[in-house]
Amino acid sequence: MFSRTAVRSAGSNATLSLRARAVSPLVSTATRQCQGPLPNAFMGGRRFIAVYGYTQAKALVYSRYGEPKDVLRLHKHSISPPHGSQVTLRLLAAPLNPADVNQIQGVYPSKPPFQSNLGTSEPSAVAGNEGAFEVIATGANVKNLSKGDWVVMKQTGQGTWRTHAQMDESQLIKIENKDGLSPLQISTVSVNPVTAYRMIKDFCNWDWMRTGEEWLIQNGANSGVGRAAIQLAREWGIKTLNVVRERETPEKTEVLKQELRELGATAVVTEAELLSGDFKNKVNELTRNGKEPIRLALNCVGGKSATALAKTLAPGSHLVTYGAMSKQPVSLPSGLLIFKNLAFDGFWVSKWGDKNPQLKENTINDVLQLTRSGKFKDIPVDEIRWNWETEGPALTAGVQETLSGYRDGKGLLKFEGGD
Ligand SMILES: NC(=O)c1ccc[n+]([C@@H]2O[C@H](COP(=O)([O-])OP(=O)(O)OC[C@H]3O[C@@H](n4cnc5c(N)ncnc54)[C@H](OP(=O)(O)O)[C@@H]3O)[C@@H](O)[C@H]2O)c1
Repeated sequence: MFSRTAVRSAGSNATLSLRARAVSPLVSTATRQCQGPLPNAFMGGRRFIAVYGYTQAKALVYSRYGEPKDVLRLHKHSISPPHGSQVTLRLLAAPLNPADVNQIQGVYPSKPPFQSNLGTSEPSAVAGNEGAFEVIATGANVKNLSKGDWVVMKQTGQGTWRTHAQMDESQLIKIENKDGLSPLQISTVSVNPVTAYRMIKDFCNWDWMRTGEEWLIQNGANSGVGRAAIQLAREWGIKTLNVVRERETPEKTEVLKQELRELGATAVVTEAELLSGDFKNKVNELTRNGKEPIRLALNCVGGKSATALAKTLAPGSHLVTYGAMSKQPVSLPSGLLIFKNLAFDGFWVSKWGDKNPQLKENTINDVLQLTRSGKFKDIPVDEIRWNWETEGPALTAGVQETLSGYRDGKGLLKFEGGD
């Protein structure tokens, strides 16, 4: 299975020179839930589960908006044994997605409330929206989850960049069959693949009698969403024309193009090719002079790139904007609206998932089924190992890189501690 995984240690040795970030004061009571660390919970730098079943936990939290390196800090706290329908969870893996950083910067529309329930010195939110967790303890009234089950969050905004969490079982989706699946695959299934899946299924009435003769075009094709779109389209008999940004050298650009072709991309072009005067000819050549229509455009870049995608579309098609990586507005020639009757839509998986929880679960299960059968490959990741000794700056440095561009892989927090 394709997986280019760069592993980097974020352990304490790597961070000795970095200044430790603020840690909350000790909270002495052992009766309140989710508070600061219990006294004597650590011996010789090692953690253990304290008496009375308290779990020691750490979370990346923020109490004001700003750059992750400036506002994120690692907060220690303890979690009481679960009661009622609560479960206690241990992190397996959590990706660092662009939207997570936008949320920390305060420029994302959904803003998790700042709260004091983890015993932070100021009301704070736990960062991260996506992740795979293992159930390590269940309350007496939990019906559908058991110790050892793997789960993902039902909604975004629940805070996933934490070693442990306690949630009500109703907030979680159980992975019914985790056989053959890895934490990486489960931790990255609920945002990007679901976004790609729904945009392809819900914004175009594909003519299934013409399987293999219709196209979609997309920019940011090497992103998590883009890679998912390539593979889903391949499975559903839709051809894909994929746009990526040039790398440092033509050879490196070719390596990236080849990587996407191996996922099933029909054609891969660079942004320079997309914006060149010759691109119309290229499209005509690929689509047999429009006999194979391009019926859907997926845009996560904006600016000139989005305009160029729109110009390739067949009359009556849709361009769906789901990201704005270039931070440039989408501007459209009026003729595309008047003479081609194109439709321009937006898609936001968080809102869609809140409205369609069962469909979201079904979509996740469909993607995991494809993954199990080897038809949906892992995204390349830059693994950031997180163990009990890992200090905050090592984690926040990884977060800060998320929006840097031209990356070889998405940041992935991989927790290596025990229960
Ligand atoms: N609306 C939704 O529901 C939804 C859901 C998921 C994701 N998204 C959005 O979709 C986008 C991709 O997310 P992801 O998690 O798939 O991303 P990702 O895997 O982290 O990849 C980031 C992508 O953005 C490109 N990029 C970065 N800076 C760019 C720039 N200045 N101009 C053009 N392209 C640039 C990268 O290309 P290079 O490799 O060339 O840098 C890469 O293709 C993000 O904007 C994210 O917020 C939206």
